[in-house]
Parts: sequence; structure tokens; C-alpha cells
Amino acid sequence: MVEKIDVLISKEKIQAAIDQMAREIEKEYEGKELHFICVLKGGVTFMVDLARAIKTNVYFHFMDVSSYGYGTESTGNLKILMDLDEPIANKHVIIVEDIVDSGRTLSMLREMLLRRNPASLKICTLLDKPDRRVSPVPIEYSCFEIPDEFVVGYGLDYAQKYRNLDYIGVISFEEE
Ligand code: IMP
Ligand code: MG
Repeated sequence: MVEKIDVLISKEKIQAAIDQMAREIEKEYEGKELHFICVLKGGVTFMVDLARAIKTNVYFHFMDVSSYGYGTESTGNLKILMDLDEPIANKHVIIVEDIVDSGRTLSMLREMLLRRNPASLKICTLLDKPDRRVSPVPIEYSCFEIPDEFVVGYGLDYAQKYRNLDYIGVISFEEE
């Protein structure tokens, strides 16, 4: 099988959406200390680019959770592979995600983080696949809604590959 990738969202469109979101976040968090929680590994590229587009200070935190392994189907179980190394109590927190698909990962993660009593907790995602939602989850910031297709690039992987593409592409598989 040959893996083929077709551009869905160009680098330029991603950058424009990020700049717009950065302005919105700056306005809403004016005068507050903002903490980003990046969900590894897919959220890294987006978090870094979004944070760089924001003119005020943003603190970085990282978590690694897993629900996919190497296939393309969610299991419904959230495994904490790496937890935060600091409390988030009384902090203004935004979870930064690459994509919300079934919503299982984020809804479980959100519940878990809410129990740690942050001052506020919002969700920001680059991509949203609303047709695939199983667990409803509030998404305060979203750059793009996309159809039900498996996408790669800009942090997102297929079998750990293609994360470094600077655009979002749809992957398909063809006979050799
Ligand atoms: P959810 O729990 O089904 O919402 O999705 C959990 C995780 O699955 C996301 O954070 C991604 O890491 C991964 N995922 C979902 N859809 C895609 C996709 O189209 N491409 C690559 N990864 C995906
Ligand atoms: Mg993710």
C-alpha cells in the first residue's frame, strides 16, 4: 500500500487562523496569567505557533495521554502517560489540542483537570471533526471544522509519521 496525502488546509490558512485566534485570546485574558496545557504529541506544533502569535506571556505545561495507539480508532480509555509537574489550582488554563474527534480524550481529560480546581479551564483546538463526536465537550476556541477523514501533518500523525508537515493533509491508501 502506498500512502497518499492531499492538502486539506494550507500552511498560509493555518497561520491566518492562528493569528486571529491569538488576538481573541489576548483580549479575553487581558490582565490574567495564562497557562497552556499541551496534549502531547499532536498538540505541540499548534501550541508553539499559537503561543508565539500571542503578545503577552503564556506559561507552557505538557501532558501525555493516550487513546489511539497505532491505528485510527479511539479505544475510549484515557491513559495518563505523563502528568503535569505543577498544580493548576487557581490558574487560568487552556488545554491546547490538535484535534477533537470522538471527544472521548478531551472530555475525560477535562473532568480530571477540573477536579484540580483551576480558576478557569477552556479548550482550544486546531481542528474539530463534529460528525464524529461521541462524548460532548465544550470547545471555546476552534480554528477549523473538518469532515470525517483521517488527517495528518502540523503535529498530527499516522503511525507516528507526518507530524512535521507544515500543512494539514488527508491520508489515503492506494494499491501499489
Ligand atoms: P478523540 O478522543 O477521538 O477525540 O481523539 C483523540 C486523539 O486522536 C486526538 O487528540 C488525536 O491525537 C487523534 N486523532 C483523532 N483524529 C485524528 C486524525 O484524523 N488524524 C490524526 N490523529 C487523530
Ligand atoms: Mg491529540
